[in-house]
Amino acid sequence: MKILITGNLGYVGSVLTSHLREYFEESYLIGYDTGYFAHSITGANFIPEKQLDLQYYNDIRLITNNHLKDVDAVVHLSAISNDPMGNKFERPTEHINSTASIDLIRKSIQSGVNRFVFASSCSMYGSASESPRKETDTLNPLTAYARSKASTEKYMQDLILGDSIFTSLRFSTACGMSPRLRLDLVLNDFVACALTSRKITVLSNGSPWRPLIDVNDMATAIIWALRRDASENLNYLSINVGRTDSNYQIKDLANTVADLIPGTSVDINKNAETDNRSYKVDFSLYSQLASGFQPSFSLENSIVSLIDGLKSMKFDNHDFRSSQYIRLKALQSHMDMKRLNKELYWR
Ligand SMILES: NC(=O)c1ccc[n+]([C@@H]2O[C@H](COP(=O)([O-])OP(=O)(O)OC[C@H]3O[C@@H](n4cnc5c(N)ncnc54)[C@H](O)[C@@H]3O)[C@@H](O)[C@H]2O)c1
Repeated sequence: MKILITGNLGYVGSVLTSHLREYFEESYLIGYDTGYFAHSITGANFIPEKQLDLQYYNDIRLITNNHLKDVDAVVHLSAISNDPMGNKFERPTEHINSTASIDLIRKSIQSGVNRFVFASSCSMYGSASESPRKETDTLNPLTAYARSKASTEKYMQDLILGDSIFTSLRFSTACGMSPRLRLDLVLNDFVACALTSRKITVLSNGSPWRPLIDVNDMATAIIWALRRDASENLNYLSINVGRTDSNYQIKDLANTVADLIPGTSVDINKNAETDNRSYKVDFSLYSQLASGFQPSFSLENSIVSLIDGLKSMKFDNHDFRSSQYIRLKALQSHMDMKRLNKELYWR
């Protein structure tokens, strides 16, 4: 099987590569990424893409049918992938995450790709703290990032797929260690705060709900989507990926990290404005359809993997919230150095 992974040089892709290499031992793996964060290898003792057979350094907006020749499966991760970047770079977010994704889907169908896995997001539920949202519930995307994912999914729902199997995985918020670590993810941020200053500063009032998933369990879900059977009507499926008992309030995440890193205090900003982005998600469909591929990392496992990873990097950057570990800062620094233009193309 020939698998093309877009966005493979990111946080998730750098973990996924090893999982795919191990699971589909004989497969031909191709990476396709423009490399915004390619330089930020963190605490890894090898470059994940060494496990690939081919790497393209190219923009997803410029992909051609040639790149997709003889490709059996596409895992589409490339995106401007959080709310702060989406807010700052609204136009390129729409172009990259939605217009280019739709173009990639079209080209994939033309080229005979018969498996397509789209990295979608539970953030499309927006504001939903009352009852856990199911796949059939109305979406309420509140940000440019969430809207871009929702519009790509909308396009996918009407596709005529024949025998092909396309899946949108609506991921929970990611956490955990990666060879390309991000510290702009809530749990990762809290662990880094606790390790560097023994104090977790929660910027919100701590009340919003978020479902969480370890980055390794995201890779497991992608493997499931690459292998799943299509029973009637399921050639296209949008599915929430996570575990129903992994819906947490932000303050509980902070307190759990503090419990595992002795001497850590938690400082919650009680005066912060209410963050509308608060949602609980129902994962019963994933539990029903993906037996054998369920998330296996507990919250504590993910925290311990981060502690071990950061300690092995001798991480002591107190000012990490202004560093390259924050994707928005990394993009901004490329722009300040005139490496990227405002549409996020390399100059
Ligand atoms: N991290 C999360 O919490 C989370 C949750 C839900 C869904 N997702 C989705 O999973 C996917 C992977 O997320 P991640 O955390 O690894 O993000 P990331 O930002 O770490 O990686 C994204 C990768 O896409 C590449 N990319 C961006 N724009 C591109 C372009 N124009 N052309 C080619 N490559 C481009 C980047 O260079 C980067 O390597 C994304 O689609 C994201 O929206 C992530």
